[in-house]
Amino acid sequence: MSSNQHDDAQQDANFIRTFAMVLGILTLLGIGVVFLARGVNENVAEEQGAYTEGLETRIAPVGQLNTSGAAASVAAAGAPPAPAAEATAPAAAPVALSGKEVYDSVCFACHTPGAAGAPKLGDAAAWAPRVAQGADTLHKHAIEGYMGNGGMMPPKGGRPDLADEAVKAAVDYMVENSK
Ligand code: HEC
Repeated sequence: MSSNQHDDAQQDANFIRTFAMVLGILTLLGIGVVFLARGVNENVAEEQGAYTEGLETRIAPVGQLNTSGAAASVAAAGAPPAPAAEATAPAAAPVALSGKEVYDSVCFACHTPGAAGAPKLGDAAAWAPRVAQGADTLHKHAIEGYMGNGGMMPPKGGRPDLADEAVKAAVDYMVENSK
């Protein structure tokens, strides 16, 4: 064996050792990258979960259409809007309004200031002759409207969406509080 051949064998052995080491390092690096990627992926998934949570609430419309004809209940200021699922739910059945509620939201416009010849709420003298006509006539006049000597009482006070019962209740409330 010449020294030349010996050197060659030594060099080969060195090369194989280095090569194996580089391979080993690359393999470890590869495995490391796989775990790193998994960790990142989990973080992203977690963040996405936090983002989608409550998303429906955040993008829900600010207002909702009230088709029930009842006075809209004002949501507490700052309260989050109802989730979309509720928005698509069928409108609640119209709530029966009390005579006072109807009066305070509709009739007061004319009957509190006595506008356009309307008998004022609480004005016993103005109401006595009207009450004398009987409750049925008062109800009929309030629901169908009528033209009196003093002015024009519009049907249902100009709110055709009101139920007859609601208008009657308002008339009774007015009569009761104008004695
Ligand atoms: C736009 C104004 C206006 C509104 C709103 C209004 N009224 Fe009147 N109402 C009148 C006027 C004016 C008269 C008097 C008409 C007359 O006798 O000359 C009157 C008269 C009446 C009378 C007396 C009827 C009679 O036979 O003497 C009743 C009862 C009555 N209103 C009920 C109501 C009720 C209930 C509402 C609410 C749902 C209402 N009004 C809303 C203007 C209004």
